[in-house]
Amino acid sequence: MTQHVVIAGGSGEVGRQLLALLAQRPELSLRALVRQLGSLPASANLEEVPFDFEDSAAYGPLFARPCDLLLIALGTTRAKAGSAEAFLRVDRDYPMRLISALATTHPGAKVGLVSSVGADRGKGLYLGAKATVEAELAASGLSHAIVRPSFLRSDRREFRLLEVLVNRLIAPPWLALGRMAFSSSPAWWRWAPVHVREVAATLLEATLSLKPGQRRVLEGLDLHPGPASRWGKP
Ligand SMILES: NC(=O)c1ccc[n+]([C@@H]2O[C@H](COP(=O)([O-])OP(=O)(O)OC[C@H]3O[C@@H](n4cnc5c(N)ncnc54)[C@H](OP(=O)(O)O)[C@@H]3O)[C@@H](O)[C@H]2O)c1
Repeated sequence: MTQHVVIAGGSGEVGRQLLALLAQRPELSLRALVRQLGSLPASANLEEVPFDFEDSAAYGPLFARPCDLLLIALGTTRAKAGSAEAFLRVDRDYPMRLISALATTHPGAKVGLVSSVGADRGKGLYLGAKATVEAELAASGLSHAIVRPSFLRSDRREFRLLEVLVNRLIAPPWLALGRMAFSSSPAWWRWAPVHVREVAATLLEATLSLKPGQRRVLEGLDLHPGPASRWGKP
């Protein structure tokens, strides 16, 4: 039976990997919320839906159509958003509106959320936003899977200083060494940079396999399922 998937943030680094995986699953019918039509590579099971995330009245009608699975990979940076308020709208308010509207219209649906390592502590602008969304999801009663990656490895074109520094300092050979040297260290695995491909694959499989009412949080070693030789490779 066809399952209906809505994805927010499909044009981002993790989002594009999710879409590539979803494109290989003809049993899934996808609606990707975009700011601009033509933002995403075409695929047979994908419909791009222009969506105004600022319009709070748009969220209810969005879920008038079937939705079995909602994937949220939205995000920005304070610098890119221009202010703390604008950052919070993207990283906190839009995901919360999506979750709330889905819980009202499709309480049996599942949610997959890209959060961040440290969201369990939830201090400061960034982690505070992530913690608030996670709490909203837990309170919604929806089955859900949350991934909490550390720094992302990807082919991002935009320059993000911290990401570049961390990824240069901890390049794949060091990751492989770390894997051997600290194979049972939860701290190493929580903070080791992780490729967006692995984040997306882990999130998708975890979300699709959720049982009713189940809540899963995946971080650290959960996000490094493949062999070290594959890390960082496209
Ligand atoms: N970067 C890291 O190292 C890191 C580490 C841990 C967790 N995370 C989290 O992982 C998640 C995914 O990260 P990512 O790097 O894949 O994100 P990304 O590449 O920056 O993509 C962000 C997505 O959000 C959308 N978006 C941004 N601003 C928007 C706005 N004002 N209105 C509507 N949509 C907007 C983008 O759409 P457009 O294409 O239209 O801009 C894009 O689809 C984020 O929540 C991030 O906080 C990131």
